Amino acid sequence: MDTMDKAIIYMDNAATTWPKPPQVMEAMERCMREAAANPGRGGHRMAVQASRVLFEGRKALAKLFRVGNPNDIAFALNTTHALNMALAGWLRAGDHVVTTSVEHNSVRRPLEAMKRKLGLNVTYVGTDAQGRLDPRKVREAIRPETRLIALGHSSNLLGTIAPVGEIGEIARKHGVKLLVDAAQSAGVLDLDVEAMGIDMLAFPGHKGLLGPQGTGGLYIHPDLDLEPLMHGGTGSKSEAPEQPAVRPDRYEAGTPNTVGIAGLAAGVKFILEQTPRRIHERELALTRRLMEGLEAIPGVKLLGPGIAEERTAIVSFLTEGADPSEIAFRLDREFGIAVRAGYHCTPLGHESAGTTETGAVRASPGYFTTESEIASLIEAVRELSGARGKI
Ligand SMILES: Cc1ncc(COP(=O)(O)O)c(C=O)c1O
Repeated sequence: MDTMDKAIIYMDNAATTWPKPPQVMEAMERCMREAAANPGRGGHRMAVQASRVLFEGRKALAKLFRVGNPNDIAFALNTTHALNMALAGWLRAGDHVVTTSVEHNSVRRPLEAMKRKLGLNVTYVGTDAQGRLDPRKVREAIRPETRLIALGHSSNLLGTIAPVGEIGEIARKHGVKLLVDAAQSAGVLDLDVEAMGIDMLAFPGHKGLLGPQGTGGLYIHPDLDLEPLMHGGTGSKSEAPEQPAVRPDRYEAGTPNTVGIAGLAAGVKFILEQTPRRIHERELALTRRLMEGLEAIPGVKLLGPGIAEERTAIVSFLTEGADPSEIAFRLDREFGIAVRAGYHCTPLGHESAGTTETGAVRASPGYFTTESEIASLIEAVRELSGARGKI
């Protein structure tokens, strides 16, 4: 049986959310029709309109993350781009960085590259097998030459939520800057950069913020002067040979994704209306329902924190005797259900969870997932597990 023509049941929201609210598509179409000139590079009406689109996006994001000045948010292509802006912009030869053993490759690889090139020193603080991080261990890892703590807000493999507020306090007390990777939390967990002591916040537009791919950004505390990752045209101070000091131009060389940011702004406005709290509550209820259903299937092992604990909407699991890639392939082909399998860009996370040999199947419901879709996934895994011999 092949169900490729069947409507998709989309459970891969941790990678990119889908579907998007209709307002996102409408805003992008409107921008493309009416305002897709080059922002900041001309004084004509349409260029001014394009600049306005960017500012609207910045304003909505500033409201969501409680950033005082929207110009402290620089747009980026995705979380990875924003993390690279932060790490390359802040760290220098000989610095020490504290990070964790559940980080995504988007944190780990730039740090490892800087280790090779700059002689950076990195400490990976271990979590338990469920991805829980003890803030005391972070504090103990700080040395006199530590300049940064780089931390994912929520694990993309396990759904575990890191105690960012507590670590922000530790960072402040020790005069160390805190970079938070909000790839799995922006739009669903409360984020208040001042209250949580966050100096830099890297976020995607295409995940929980419900915008299109090719969007994201970095909040940079006003007191932090990062070296720009890219140098080039900004439409401002064109006579100067160096990158302008004024924000956000300093960190936004080249023509931005204006149409994408129009969509992102609409996504963020939708979230502000619904509130992250309500979105998280709904997603958590769906996640718990999914966990209950999967846990009851013989041979299925769930990863990450227990059902009663807070987590983001990520359910990674193994089915006894079956390869995660085959389970994912058959869920797609036979049941029209999209999940992700294998190694989730976090070899360290797999090591912590004890799944280096196997990888895992990851199902990630979203705000628009229905209870009947959750029931379909549980039923499909039950069928595939029952037919284990045939896998
Ligand atoms: C925790 C985490 N960090 C970083 C990333 C990279 O995000 P992006 O694809 O927006 O660069 C992801 C993507 O899944 C992620 O889950």
